[in-house]
Amino acid sequence: MQCSASTMAITNRGTSLLVLLSAIVAALLSSQLVFQHPPCLEWLLNLDFLSFTSSISPNSYGSGHHRRHRAPKTNDTDICDDLPPGFPPADTDTTSIFCVDRNGCCSFTTVQSAVDAVAVLSQKRSIVWINKGIYYEKVTIPKTKPNITFQGQGLYTTGIAWNDTANSSHGTFYSASVAVFGANFIAKNISFINVAPIPNPGDVGAQAVAIRVGADQAAFWGCGFFGAQDTIHDDRGRHYFKECHIQGSIDFIFGDGRSLYESCQMISIASPVAAGLKTIDGTVTAHGRASGDENTGFSFVNCSIGGTGRIWLGRAWRPFSRVVFANTFMSEIIAPEGWNDFGDPGRDQTVFYGEYNCSGAGASLTMRVPYAQKLNNTQAAPFLNTSFIDGDQWLQPLDSNLLF
Ligand SMILES: *[C@@H]1O[C@H](CO)[C@@H](O)[C@H](O)[C@H]1NC(C)=O
Ligand SMILES: *[C@@H]1O[C@H](CO)[C@@H](O)[C@H](O)[C@H]1NC(C)=O
Ligand SMILES: *[C@@H]1O[C@H](CO)[C@@H](O)[C@H](O)[C@H]1NC(C)=O
Ligand SMILES: *[C@@H]1O[C@H](CO)[C@@H](O)[C@H](O)[C@H]1NC(C)=O
Ligand SMILES: *[C@@H]1O[C@H](CO)[C@@H](O)[C@H](O)[C@H]1NC(C)=O
Ligand SMILES: *[C@@H]1O[C@H](CO)[C@@H](O)[C@H](O)[C@H]1NC(C)=O
Ligand SMILES: *[C@@H]1O[C@H](CO)[C@@H](O)[C@H](O)[C@H]1NC(C)=O
Ligand SMILES: *[C@@H]1O[C@H](CO)[C@@H](O)[C@H](O)[C@H]1NC(C)=O
Ligand SMILES: *[C@@H]1O[C@H](CO)[C@@H](O)[C@H](O)[C@H]1NC(C)=O
Repeated sequence: MQCSASTMAITNRGTSLLVLLSAIVAALLSSQLVFQHPPCLEWLLNLDFLSFTSSISPNSYGSGHHRRHRAPKTNDTDICDDLPPGFPPADTDTTSIFCVDRNGCCSFTTVQSAVDAVAVLSQKRSIVWINKGIYYEKVTIPKTKPNITFQGQGLYTTGIAWNDTANSSHGTFYSASVAVFGANFIAKNISFINVAPIPNPGDVGAQAVAIRVGADQAAFWGCGFFGAQDTIHDDRGRHYFKECHIQGSIDFIFGDGRSLYESCQMISIASPVAAGLKTIDGTVTAHGRASGDENTGFSFVNCSIGGTGRIWLGRAWRPFSRVVFANTFMSEIIAPEGWNDFGDPGRDQTVFYGEYNCSGAGASLTMRVPYAQKLNNTQAAPFLNTSFIDGDQWLQPLDSNLLF
């Protein structure tokens, strides 16, 4: 997908900095001062991030604690007008609501402070409703806080961003802007972003995770994931991603999760490779199944892969890496060989890399590595629906009653 200012569905309500910045980005785009393929939020966020961090520390948005008063009217337009009247609604027997607005229009000004306020081991669902804006903070949902929902207002208008790298956080696993260790996590219409500088080829320590999903039974609807190297750490457990937008370059979905990606767009921001060169500068997946006894794997159904660079579908981070692409459109950025064994030919015998009914210039199987499998209907069937992640045991249908 080509990104343009018009895809950023930003309304005129409120006085969000995003509105201003989107105008700047639109101006930049129209004067063609930015990349040929502007990565969707990247410029917007970098601008926003730098302009903020140069003047004030990201934490100076406030302690984030219960501030129930509404921000003062400075003008006829109340900056709190985009909160629906009577919002947030009262808690019920089954749900508690935690309202986050960075202008101080409801209870919390940071996402982490709302998470901190959720009761430990609550069996109720705790809905953290997050108003438009970019929240510059590193957020952790601990293991003791299951059943949390993050409800944003749109993936181009609501996001959580930080800029740790493997270097700055002492390891890729700790670089995530948002880390989820509580089970039964749900996110809707929100973006998870790492704004660390995009690594140059050969850079060391520049991995920068946007989200680490290190808990079982997590589901994402209409979410954005923006980063470069290692955007989604799909660490462990069963996960579902539907209609999500995932941007990255090297290994942009990695980990040992068992996950279904349905109707998602994967956008590579790897550098364009000149015609004639055989350079590979990115990989969609690096699945980390370590043994044949594990039932983990990544399955992509009805997805699309586009963007820039020349990339592999996957490389074997661990010997039993397992990935399937079904009914997925692949642009010409996919290298003809498709897959890579991480320099260990022994892994050719143990990985499971399947393709089924894919389309597009990158989907041709004629030049694929010998261990890539063209799956038949029977072989593909276990990967094609939510049964792959035992969805009947835990995956709730999208509950529109919970959308405010
Ligand atoms: C309040 O702000 C709006 C939009 O920014 C502007 O059009 C209007 O003139 C302002 N009103 C006053 C009283 O300053
Ligand atoms: C809350 O989490 C627990 C443990 O993960 C789970 O058993 C329970 O069904 C969840 N409750 C809700 C309302 O999602
Ligand atoms: C993150 O941003 C801050 C503020 O601009 C900067 O000081 C810091 O070096 C950045 N960290 C990384 C790892 O880029
Ligand atoms: C996401 O936002 C769109 C546009 O505002 C809305 O139509 C849709 O219902 C929302 N979906 C979810 C899951 O919140
Ligand atoms: C990470 O740290 C190593 C060792 O100090 C250094 O060589 C490298 O340039 C750093 N990488 C980044 C992206 O800052
Ligand atoms: C194969 O993919 C096409 C789209 O390219 C789709 O229309 C068709 O339903 C798929 N076939 C199966 C068996 O899923
Ligand atoms: C699918 O492939 C498997 C493994 O090669 C084979 O055993 C099976 O007979 C095939 N099924 C169909 C329906 O072609
Ligand atoms: C998923 O597909 C399998 C194999 O085709 C089938 O047995 C199962 O009923 C399907 N599950 C759902 C939830 O559609
Ligand atoms: C994928 O698309 C096909 C054809 O539109 C549809 O029948 C199938 O249910 C979709 N599968 C998933 C997992 O979304």
